[in-house]
Amino acid sequence: MTSSERTRAEIHVRGAKKSFSGRTVVDVDELVLGDSAVEGLLGPNGAGKTTLMRMIMHSIPLDEGTVTLHKRDGSTITLSELPPHQMVSNGVVKSTQVVSDFDQLTILDSLLLALATPGDESPIRWKAERELAKKHEEEIRHQLDRFGFGNPNEVAGSAGEKKLLDIVRCLLLKPDVLLLDEPTAGLPDDITQLVMSAVRELALGGTSVVIVEHDLEVIWELCDEVTFMAEGRVLMKSDPETIRNNSLVVEKYLGADHA
Ligand SMILES: Nc1ncnc2c1ncn2[C@@H]1O[C@H](COP(=O)(O)OP(=O)(O)OP(=O)(O)O)[C@@H](O)[C@H]1O
Ligand SMILES: [Mg+2]
Repeated sequence: MTSSERTRAEIHVRGAKKSFSGRTVVDVDELVLGDSAVEGLLGPNGAGKTTLMRMIMHSIPLDEGTVTLHKRDGSTITLSELPPHQMVSNGVVKSTQVVSDFDQLTILDSLLLALATPGDESPIRWKAERELAKKHEEEIRHQLDRFGFGNPNEVAGSAGEKKLLDIVRCLLLKPDVLLLDEPTAGLPDDITQLVMSAVRELALGGTSVVIVEHDLEVIWELCDEVTFMAEGRVLMKSDPETIRNNSLVVEKYLGADHA
């Protein structure tokens, strides 16, 4: 590793503001995400967590400020100037709760579509698809098996299955930065545990994971660091234990009777 290379990619948010109908919902002076393997983003409903993630992905434009990606090779790219469709090819992926493709495509096809890069396009479509499937077959099978998916040639049925399929998509892409917005909401406990171990595995492989969750056990167990947001602002960033016991966090979010 040369001096400019880094172990993990980082997202730097600077002076980032977003208002809706004249009301400021995100106002972040300075935030670095990715300096730990798994970071939690915690805060009450309406704190601006999802909006901040969407600003990072540039799926909504910033009113002010910048978001930059500091890649592992030492190079830097301004995400807030990048078209959203170029995020994946730059290694930045966010889980999406509603993926309409999952309604029309089989489990296998939707994953192949997610993995396809422009270079995989071919005039002979079936040949390109077969090659892509062959290249990723083992990995796809491994990921589907670990979550107990049935036949990959069927369409994902339940909302839970679609949600899980989206997590599998994120895992297969092996991003440098993965943003997860409430990945385990609505999933049963045993599946939540499987998602957590998959996220841990990905982080061990070098991905910087940022996770928003209201299931606090997920945050305390999984995260190396936690950023606490309220009313659009970052109020503190620290280790989970410190956040958990901070009086401001207790007052604004956890409540006095939290475990
Ligand atoms: N497109 C929009 N138009 C108008 N207001 C919006 C829009 N998106 C978000 N907001 C408002 O911005 C504020 C922050 O919303 P956001 O969804 O980012 O919160 P959150 O921290 O993710 O909350 P939750 O924990 O409930 O998911 C809320 O008051 C929300 O109503
Ligand atoms: Mg949200």
